[in-house]
Amino acid sequence: MPALVLLGAQWGDEGKGKATDLLGGSVDYVVRYQGGNNAGHTVVVGDQKYALHLLPSGILSPGCTPVIGNGVVVDPAVLLSELSGLDERGVDTSKLLISGNAHLITPYHTTLDKVSERFLGKRKIGTTGRGIGPAYADKINRVGIRVQDLFDESILRQKVEAALDYKNQVLAKLYNRRAIAIDQVVEELLGYADPLRGYVADTTLLLNNAIDQGQVVLFEGGQGTLLDVDHGTYPFVTSSNPTAGGACTGAGVGPTKINRVIGILKAYTTRVGAGPFPTELLDEDGEKLRTIGGERGVTTGRDRRCGWFDAVIARYATRVNGLTDFFLTKLDVLTGWERIPVCVAYEIDGKRVEELPYSQSDFHHAKPIYETLPGWSEDITQAKTFDELPKNAQRYVQTLEEMSGAPISAIGVGPGRDETIQINSFL
Ligand code: GDP
Ligand code: IMO
Ligand code: MG
Repeated sequence: MPALVLLGAQWGDEGKGKATDLLGGSVDYVVRYQGGNNAGHTVVVGDQKYALHLLPSGILSPGCTPVIGNGVVVDPAVLLSELSGLDERGVDTSKLLISGNAHLITPYHTTLDKVSERFLGKRKIGTTGRGIGPAYADKINRVGIRVQDLFDESILRQKVEAALDYKNQVLAKLYNRRAIAIDQVVEELLGYADPLRGYVADTTLLLNNAIDQGQVVLFEGGQGTLLDVDHGTYPFVTSSNPTAGGACTGAGVGPTKINRVIGILKAYTTRVGAGPFPTELLDEDGEKLRTIGGERGVTTGRDRRCGWFDAVIARYATRVNGLTDFFLTKLDVLTGWERIPVCVAYEIDGKRVEELPYSQSDFHHAKPIYETLPGWSEDITQAKTFDELPKNAQRYVQTLEEMSGAPISAIGVGPGRDETIQINSFL
């Protein structure tokens, strides 16, 4: 089983960090293929808790080589501070590899992210303010700066000039902001060259060779399917492709090499930032999910919006990612509800709809149609097998599996590595 993709099946924060870390001990490479430090992955190892943003979660597994692929946008200041934070805690970060083709997030991207959100006013996306959208926009617009540019001062200067000549006009004339000095940006970026030089590699060549030799490569998505710029709830999305195809373009590995695609699926639903969310709960049940589930953002500290499980979304994730398995997380959070509603379809303009509508306005109007399942009150955090779960928890999992279109191969019953029920092996 040489190549697997692990990705979020909802709007992010499904527990990808924990799932990746769990597999990290058995894989040779963990590769981030998109996104940047907008991601916030929490990994709990024993009594230690780690919050990772840009680094692949495999960095915590000693035998595993973490890779930042070409599809990622890298803020070098954040990268270095995350590395030194882990070094201080005794984590070996020396194996990290970074694609020379990955694009950089520079200070002007972060500035533009913040001012453009302010400019949108009520229509804002609610971004993480980390410069993600502007950095990807430059990449597509062919005025981006790549990691490899750090090692050639003359090219770097030309590229920063080309980008800032235009952006400074926008900053001054549209946003009424001071222009950003080209020299200052070039100098700051050049300062990252030496600390990063040793990590840069031809990651595409390396990963393809590794797969051909039968080594196990795990591609770790940031964000989730519904935040995908093509398949998500556009425009309330991130600016990259967390869906399975993104692993191919974002790491330079062909689709024929990928054997398994695992969707991380929370037993209920959360979302951070603006945009439609049919099963959102604005009542005490939503507050209870937020409190028990600890649903507060790892990156921005914002409260996550919470709602019941939505099977329409899970089915959609199965379809657009070609999911082979689900990893259902946070089942323990649902302990204590007498009855648990599950959204099985939507009502849109009086009609029952089973599949996620492609039309934005239809999705905005979608009202959830619920089926209600009986809850359980027993503590499930110690359960190690499916049979040890209370009957109603088993029924909840089986119902979700039937509705979602792919087998649930693992169940999270707590944040720790060992708080997992493994039903089918992923490897
Ligand atoms: P990610 O962005 O997908 O990696 O997810 P986050 O780390 O942002 O959010 C998931 C949160 O749930 C983290 O605090 C995890 O430690 C925690 N978590 C993951 N799996 C489980 C689980 O099965 N049960 C509980 N109670 N917490 C979990
Ligand atoms: P992980 O990897 C949840 C959301 C933001 C915003 C939208 C666009 O922890 O699952 P961006 O800064 O990317 O341009 O913001 O995407 N968002 C996330 N929501 N989890 C994440 O990452 C997210 N990364 C971005 O809140 O709505
Ligand atoms: Mg997160």
